[in-house]
This record gives sequence, C-alpha cells and structure tokens, in this order.
Amino acid sequence: MTERQGHPRRTFLVQIAGCTACMLGGCRINLANESDDDGPLDAGGIIHVLPDPVAGVLTLPFSDFPVLRQTGGWVRGIPPAWGKPVIAVNTGGGYATLEAACPHRGCGVNYTGGLLFCPCHYSEFSLDGAILRGPAETPLGRYVSTVDATALRITLA
Ligand code: FES
Repeated sequence: MTERQGHPRRTFLVQIAGCTACMLGGCRINLANESDDDGPLDAGGIIHVLPDPVAGVLTLPFSDFPVLRQTGGWVRGIPPAWGKPVIAVNTGGGYATLEAACPHRGCGVNYTGGLLFCPCHYSEFSLDGAILRGPAETPLGRYVSTVDATALRITLA
C-alpha cells in the first residue's frame, strides 16, 4: 500500500532529476559545441518576442525595452512576421542594429565586451557586422535605424 502510494512521488522525483540532468547536459553541450549540430538560436542569451514591423519598420519603444537607453544595453529577438532574429545594441554614441543569426550555423549572437559573440562555435563580429574571428565566413547583415526620444526604429529590409 505504502509502496503504491509512494510510487508516483518517486516517479515524479526521477522525472525532475532527469529533466535537471538534461538541462545541465544541454548547457555543457552548448558550451563545448564543436560538432556539426546547428546550435539553438537562443544559446547563451535571452530571446524576446519583438513587435512586428509596420511598413517594414520595427519599433522598439524605450518604455518596453528600457535597457536600450543604457550604453551597452542590448535586445535580441524575433518579430514574428519577420521571422528572423534581430539584435540592437546601444553603443553609447548611437545604435548598432544587425541580423542576430550567426552566418555560420544560425545560433543567436550576443553582445559582450564591445563585440558580438556567437556562443556555439565562438565566432566574433564587430558592431558593424564584420568578422573578427571565424568559423563564420560572412559578416552579419546590418539594418538602418533611427532613434528619437521614445523609441529605436529599425528598417527591416
Ligand atoms: S553558429 Fe557556429 S560560430 Fe556561430
């Protein structure tokens, strides 16, 4: 009787332990990923669902993305109707707005230490998209953007 009552609890605990092991294993795989796997787009960073562009312009209001007001603040995400990841970085003197899918195998690039870094195979890009370090062989695409007191506006084309 006690055995039967305890069984679902044990099963639950085993499942939780298994999920935890998967998560930890996944992290380890991402950190050491030198394989042929296409890395996950959100490896190593936070990904947001961004607003959809209107007439080709993605508007990121500072009220919704306050981190973009700070030098070094950055946001990465996908406008659903656009379907491709975008990254925006406050550079202090302006904004860098680029494609966020690494041209090597598509992982999401992060902003760190003044450059864009791919956590999957460690490609690095300058804020104008140029390759600083491979294995990526093509630069990140850049988007034109404008800013005013209320929002950053990125032309997706
Ligand atoms: S996906 Fe391989 S370096 Fe970015």
